[in-house]
Amino acid sequence: MKSLDIREKFLRFFAEKEHTRIDSSPLVPANDPTLLFTNSGMVQFKDVFLGFDKPHHHTATTAQRCLRAGGKHNDLENVGYTARHHTFFEMLGNFSFGAYFKEKAIPYAWEFLTSPQWLGLKKEHLWVTVFGGGHLFGDDSPPVPADDDAYALWLKTLVAAGFNEAEAAQRITRIPTTDNFWMMGETGPCGPCSEIFYDRDKNSEYFRGTDESHADDCVEVWNLVFMEFNRDDTGLLNKLPKPCVDTGMGLERISAVMQKVHSNYEIDLFADLLKKVNDKVTTAGGKDSGNDYTPSHKVIADHIRAAAFLIADGVMPTNEGRGYVLRRIIRRALRHGHKLGAQQAFFYQLIRYLPALMGGAHPILQTRLSLIEKILQTEEENFSTLLRHGMTMLRRELGTLGTQRKLTGDTVFKLYDTYGFPADMTADVAREEGIAVDMAGFEAHMSTQRKRSRAAMTFNIGQKTIAYDGVATEFVGYDDTETEVEVLALFVNGEAVKEARAGQEALVVLNRTPFYAQSGGQVGDIGLMCSKETKIRVTDTHKIRTDVWGHMATIDAGAVHTGMIVRGEVDATRRDAIRCNHSATHLMHAALRQVLGQHVEQKGSLVSPDYLRFDFSHHTAVSNDELRAVETIVNEQIRHNHSVETQSLPYDDALNLGAMALFGEKYGDIVRTVIIDRDFSVELCGGSHVTRTGNIGFFQFRSEGAIAAGVRRVEAVTARSAVAHAQHLHTRLQHISNLMKSSTDKVEEKIIQLRESLKETNKRLEALQAAQADQLAIQLAQLAVAHNGAQILVATDADTDIKALRELAVQLRERLSPAAVLLAGSNGDTAAFVAATDKSLNISAREWIDVVATVANAKGGGKIDFAQAGGGDCTQIDAALTAARAFVGIK
Ligand code: ALA
Repeated sequence: MKSLDIREKFLRFFAEKEHTRIDSSPLVPANDPTLLFTNSGMVQFKDVFLGFDKPHHHTATTAQRCLRAGGKHNDLENVGYTARHHTFFEMLGNFSFGAYFKEKAIPYAWEFLTSPQWLGLKKEHLWVTVFGGGHLFGDDSPPVPADDDAYALWLKTLVAAGFNEAEAAQRITRIPTTDNFWMMGETGPCGPCSEIFYDRDKNSEYFRGTDESHADDCVEVWNLVFMEFNRDDTGLLNKLPKPCVDTGMGLERISAVMQKVHSNYEIDLFADLLKKVNDKVTTAGGKDSGNDYTPSHKVIADHIRAAAFLIADGVMPTNEGRGYVLRRIIRRALRHGHKLGAQQAFFYQLIRYLPALMGGAHPILQTRLSLIEKILQTEEENFSTLLRHGMTMLRRELGTLGTQRKLTGDTVFKLYDTYGFPADMTADVAREEGIAVDMAGFEAHMSTQRKRSRAAMTFNIGQKTIAYDGVATEFVGYDDTETEVEVLALFVNGEAVKEARAGQEALVVLNRTPFYAQSGGQVGDIGLMCSKETKIRVTDTHKIRTDVWGHMATIDAGAVHTGMIVRGEVDATRRDAIRCNHSATHLMHAALRQVLGQHVEQKGSLVSPDYLRFDFSHHTAVSNDELRAVETIVNEQIRHNHSVETQSLPYDDALNLGAMALFGEKYGDIVRTVIIDRDFSVELCGGSHVTRTGNIGFFQFRSEGAIAAGVRRVEAVTARSAVAHAQHLHTRLQHISNLMKSSTDKVEEKIIQLRESLKETNKRLEALQAAQADQLAIQLAQLAVAHNGAQILVATDADTDIKALRELAVQLRERLSPAAVLLAGSNGDTAAFVAATDKSLNISAREWIDVVATVANAKGGGKIDFAQAGGGDCTQIDAALTAARAFVGIK
């Protein structure tokens, strides 16, 4: 059974059980700062589990692309060394948002695995675990009760399947640890889980799944999580509004079972890919390993999938956060290629084979293929230089270890910090040599460094989590920037309070608000909240929950208490400027795609009152002509004075209108769609916009540059800022013209003339200097002494610097040939010496220079016929020259 068929069967099985089929979400979770990557199928439903988002369906089924590298679930180090681990994999799952719980989840799983109509696995191969209860978070933590319900339900299911009671009971193991308590991350939805294992040995008499040495034979294929809690950042388990179900079955693992192969790397999805890995590595100069793939081949095959999907989902290789994980994955693959003997780039070439293998389920691979390829190629080229250098340094370090078989954290850190050599690679190389590595020591260095530079990218919400569980905020600010609002809750330093007074800073939650909370690149609003005696200054607005607005405020006068009615007034001038920049961003995005091509995709955006910033995929600098062409189109659209329409549409309808799905908007969502002339720009956007494009007035770029491989950044201004920018440019032009004593329309001509005449002057100057040097050479040549059939010249020319000395020495050697010439000079503070000798004379220039260098305390060196020294003591020039004469035997 092909992987493709297994995926389809799974989705169909649950569709027949009235689950809605939903597409995989991207690997980068939308709006979730607590999570690095989508690490399981439930991530796109996190807010639904937590009760923050209303479910659009009560049940769902997905084939979700997942990445487990970095964060709580991290399999990076195991990849290639076990038969069952990947960084990137697909997880099949069924979900219930309060519709059913264990009583259905367990029988569904059993039916799908064993029914001949579906996978038809023999029951003798299957074993299960349930949560056995325990103190999960340390001895002092409150005990979490055992999952007796799951135990009873399994017993019933297994007996119904034909096992007797004793056999059934033997097949269920209670595990009292976090192995059977699933958590998405350190915080978030979690609950007891029940795992189903497939033991390849059908005569096995006991459960081998807890035994690491059998882990590749008795492999966990499906995890059923009974979501009941939300773990908060103090570690407490809070009950979820409704118990939910989240299950996950790794497609690669179940495929290995169904295809009767021992390792995931032998399944259909990997067989061709590994062959290509071997081909490409061989072409790049590596050893051909036939069909006998090493862990390195497997690492490369795993990592190309991960890298491809990460880039497709918008991650670029960088030095922090998600981009850093991508960079590590790519570099780890390259290192393994290097280990297999690859001398040239090979990794990026593998990308071409992926769409045929996986593109059916993930069309995004095909559409982003050339972007992925270019980014990988650049990364590969840059890394090969770094790798060569780093490996040499590491080998040197390993060579100095002697009997002590451990690499210190200091060394690992030094390699990382100074040469950019990643610590996991150091660990890999050391492992191959049987050398231990002090990773804890390395981590300690890293954490100090992070603290020092404050550059830590911790994927935790920066501020203390605000414990607000009241009603959602109604946002009324698209139409009104001023309205009466009620204060529902107040927090000072993160703690809930009833009242805040003048001088205090507080976070204010309202029932409704005209203030826009920062999102989608648009900055949060500022403004005032006032009543008769109270004046509150809103300094920023952020969401503290998907649907709750937090107003950061300073109480300037009076006091504010919960339940109070105040008048919220957004700073409307600032908001108008933001609107202009936001609508202009949409126009510019469409125009960039027209001018540069459809590969242009938004990678990031900032919409502030002063300017707009926009990052997008494109491989080369945007030329001046292209920038001007985009400006022309945008300004035309402004002059058309289109009305800007916003509509709330079902997701699919919006896509049909031509909107691009950018940031993992969700299935079944009603999405806000901003339309500026249906044929020109349709975007999914929650931001605030002008009513007619004419309001933008004028649009102008102010900068263009690169921010990462394949990603450009432009900044632009609109309305008042654009006028100010144009005026500023004109004023500078005027100033330059004044300096040039010219008018603005003649200034270029004037600059060209000036450059021409400067060139002329320089030429004449060089000719004069050459003549002077000749003159000097002639004078110095007269000081040469004939000695043993050669001309020996030892002389000084006080103000000649080392560069001129070198030329002079060589010129004199030719002029006097056969000759030996030693000249001294200075550049003010220090003395310099140059020696040039004819090889036929057997006078070593290097030794000659050594003699003078010793006397004058200078440093240098050279070859047999040419040497130099610098940094010497000027007062010792005469003494040095005396020594030089003595060396060649003249006076
Ligand atoms: N979320 C669960 C897991 O990843 C199903 O194992």
